[in-house]
Amino acid sequence: MRSYDIAVIGGDGTGPEVIREAVKVLDAAAARFKLKLNYTHYDLGGERYLRTGEVLPESVLAELRKFPAILLGAIGHPQVKPGILEKGILLRTRFELEQYINLRPVKLYDERFCPLKHRKPEDIDFVVVRENNEGLYSGAGGFIFKGTPDEVALQESINTRRGVERCLRFAFDYTRKRNKHKKLTLSGKTNVLTYAFDLWERAFHEIGRQDYPDIERAYAHVDATVMWFVKNPEWFDVIVTDNMFGDIITDLGAMIQGGMGIAAGGNINPQGGGMFEPIGGSAPKYTGQGVINPLAAICAGQMLLDFLGETQAAKAVETAVINTVRHKIKNLAAGKMGCSTSQVGDLVANAL
Ligand code: IPM
Ligand code: MN
Repeated sequence: MRSYDIAVIGGDGTGPEVIREAVKVLDAAAARFKLKLNYTHYDLGGERYLRTGEVLPESVLAELRKFPAILLGAIGHPQVKPGILEKGILLRTRFELEQYINLRPVKLYDERFCPLKHRKPEDIDFVVVRENNEGLYSGAGGFIFKGTPDEVALQESINTRRGVERCLRFAFDYTRKRNKHKKLTLSGKTNVLTYAFDLWERAFHEIGRQDYPDIERAYAHVDATVMWFVKNPEWFDVIVTDNMFGDIITDLGAMIQGGMGIAAGGNINPQGGGMFEPIGGSAPKYTGQGVINPLAAICAGQMLLDFLGETQAAKAVETAVINTVRHKIKNLAAGKMGCSTSQVGDLVANAL
């Protein structure tokens, strides 16, 4: 029996509720595919911070390093100043564990849930590879004369050849393995960010020309990219982009695949572990009501299985999700599903 240790962080708001359903579905998959999943739960998040002042203790970080996979609900608490938990837990884990890829599939499972007219599942099926350790997220910057009329605020975008190259190589490899249109689009802003995206574009073509001649290379400015998400989403196969642009465009990606209720992503260290999460936030206003859609967390669980090499189990979870989305659910939005959070978990688990 194959056995995996998984760290589970429910986190804030509706995070724990959706993670409960994701674990339910993982357990159903484990039973069917004869896997042993050993969970260790961590109570990181706003409540712990408010109670103890701890954000992410060193000892917990050291433990998290050892897991091949982490399942995360959501981080963000209305009583905690924005940035403390997000930077202290989510970004710190992404950085310290060198999860330098943020993989975000944009896949429409049912045309009923697409806000774009006449779009079908075959039109919306692409993947965004977001650089996850650098760019504007690096935290470089500062204030001069803070709080005075002469105040200066700096926020610097850090782009290293090493960081850009490893992200691009992952994206090329991924495009090859995905084997759909074998097309990789770099999304950037070469006309304005003439340092950062000069490096990205040069590295993109150099690496592509040398090592991935079988992959078609395309470039799109980020503003045009989001226009095409709406106008011609079928043009995309795999997109690679920096941290900030990747953050922004994947929220639009989530909307065209049916919303935050279904969109999942993985923070991946290709040489190490991965942390999988719904891409939406903690949705505090829905906490504890049993109305939040757990499918994004369930899809994060699916990505986690796939990352662990349990491809068949991952496929089966996806099939069960598709079945639930197409035939059982009224709407993907919180409170409009026609059933409760735990009922959605039951539907997917039973379909497995
Ligand atoms: C995401 C989120 C995070 C990010 C926030 C919560 C820091 O928006 O995972 O996309 O900006 O990366
Ligand atoms: Mn985001």
